[in-house]
Amino acid sequence: GPRGEPVTLDVNGATYAIELEPRVSLLDALRDHLDMTGTKKGCDQGTCGACTVWMDGRRVLSCLTLAYSCEGHQIATIEGIAQDGELHPMQQAFIDHDAFQCGYCTPGQIMSAIALLREGNATTDADIAEHMSGNICRCQAYPNIHAAIREVRDADDGG
Ligand code: FES
Ligand code: FES
Repeated sequence: GPRGEPVTLDVNGATYAIELEPRVSLLDALRDHLDMTGTKKGCDQGTCGACTVWMDGRRVLSCLTLAYSCEGHQIATIEGIAQDGELHPMQQAFIDHDAFQCGYCTPGQIMSAIALLREGNATTDADIAEHMSGNICRCQAYPNIHAAIREVRDADDGG
């Protein structure tokens, strides 16, 4: 096939030098070239949120992001969320609230949910619903997802 061009990606604090064809998405680079399959491919066209990761701390849809455009930026994926062998509080809250069924949407939901709190967009239930609306759950686990987010929000508020 066509030859790739060198690209350097910073993912979860580690640097990866790989070769990619110019049109490869960040999603495919993660899954197919870096063996990070936690980030899911649902629609591959920007409508489901399953592929949500962070670029410099902000949510992006990795299926719509060219891997090349990520050079010089810090990418974070679900694989980097747990720290020192401990689940992130949002991961624990999803478990505690049964906030998934098939689990396919869950990595994207969690990446969005943590970002939502950081953005300050989880003040009301309507806020949560609006700002999580890009993350589709075919299993309709929304009430439990939102309950998990509220729990982490309120724990944060309590210091
Ligand atoms: Fe990216 Fe659906 S796979 S939004
Ligand atoms: Fe199945 Fe969300 S848990 S799609």
